[in-house]
Amino acid sequence: MDYTLNNQPKSNKTEVIIGEDALEQLGRFSGSYTKTAIISDESAAKYCLGPVQDALGRKVEKIILPDGEANKNLRFAEDILRQLREAGFDRKSLIIGLGGGVINDIVGFAASMYMRGVDWLVLPTTLIAQADASIGGKTGVNLGGYKNMVGSFWPPKAVLINPKFLKTLPLRQIRNGLAEIIKMGFIADAEILDEVQKIEPEKILGVHLNKASELAAKAKIEIVNSDMYESGGRKLLNFGHTIGHALESISLETDEPLLHGEAISIGMAAEAKLAELEDVCKPELVENIKETLTRFGLPTSYKHAVIGDILERILADKKNVGKDINWTLPKAAGEGLYNHLADDINIKEAIKSVII
Ligand SMILES: NC(=O)c1ccc[n+]([C@@H]2O[C@H](COP(=O)([O-])OP(=O)(O)OC[C@H]3O[C@@H](n4cnc5c(N)ncnc54)[C@H](O)[C@@H]3O)[C@@H](O)[C@H]2O)c1
Ligand SMILES: [Zn+2]
Repeated sequence: MDYTLNNQPKSNKTEVIIGEDALEQLGRFSGSYTKTAIISDESAAKYCLGPVQDALGRKVEKIILPDGEANKNLRFAEDILRQLREAGFDRKSLIIGLGGGVINDIVGFAASMYMRGVDWLVLPTTLIAQADASIGGKTGVNLGGYKNMVGSFWPPKAVLINPKFLKTLPLRQIRNGLAEIIKMGFIADAEILDEVQKIEPEKILGVHLNKASELAAKAKIEIVNSDMYESGGRKLLNFGHTIGHALESISLETDEPLLHGEAISIGMAAEAKLAELEDVCKPELVENIKETLTRFGLPTSYKHAVIGDILERILADKKNVGKDINWTLPKAAGEGLYNHLADDINIKEAIKSVII
């Protein structure tokens, strides 16, 4: 299936190609460049680099980073930039990001910085990257304990999504991606939830997952097409992410870091509770959200954080304007609202409801 993202206000477009033959399109997007680099991480390279090189059919520069969120920082971004410079990359070079959301974000960021911006393509290899992160042109790195604090809007020329890459992904990573798909179902498109219901938790990979992932990508394309720079509807995507990002960054400083999807799963449980306390949704929706997440082994509570620490991180979130926290909350299955200002007592109670 082919889709197009219109990256307003610029007239450039991102083609999003989804299917097991997506790599066949690589040649179409990678010609006419002086040099090409594939940037990946160790695991994505181990499982996915071979077919990509075969599809490209020519020698390219390879830059392989260590795995993990902890490396999504300025140091590794600089490392990429330095290696591009040393290899003589110019403005007409192409960068290909091959990997999960971490690679998507740091490679896109490096592409936006190198010589004030070079073209890039992304080949997402995790579920989170295929259903969500590769769509929408947001790039960035973490700064200190804060997620995605430094970044840019720099859409790739194309996103080539091959669901076959998911076959080597560990179960925990697949569940991680499902969290974002479930999020999209609750705030934007209930059809996604129907498809998620058909997925068997014991055998997640398969047609229903592929369909749910594609529907989530499609929903994101529609949202981004109407609001690239997050002045309105794109804020819907932040459901679960205000509390989720706080928990994710706290957990990164512990011995048991949460994956992004796990953190936003807990964030969704907390923010759904907030929606209930604020009379935005009915208690049954909160139960529905929690049941859908737990059915796939996703967490809805957390034990390594104290409320003060969480609040402090939430207040530093870049989505806030001044002291106001702009909440995105679920109203009903497939429908959310954004820019909601909540009562302080309800916020604390919602956070407490997920801390054990
Ligand atoms: N830019 C956006 O709009 C956006 C949206 C959502 C999430 N994100 C970001 O995405 C990141 C999370 O992405 P993620 O969950 O993909 O994490 P990730 O990129 O760290 O990938 C998870 C792990 O899977 C490995 N891996 C990748 N492909 C594989 C494959 N096919 N087989 C086996 N192993 C493979 C990776 O090496 C890594 O160790 C977070 O930093 C989050 O902030 C960005
Ligand atoms: Zn997310």
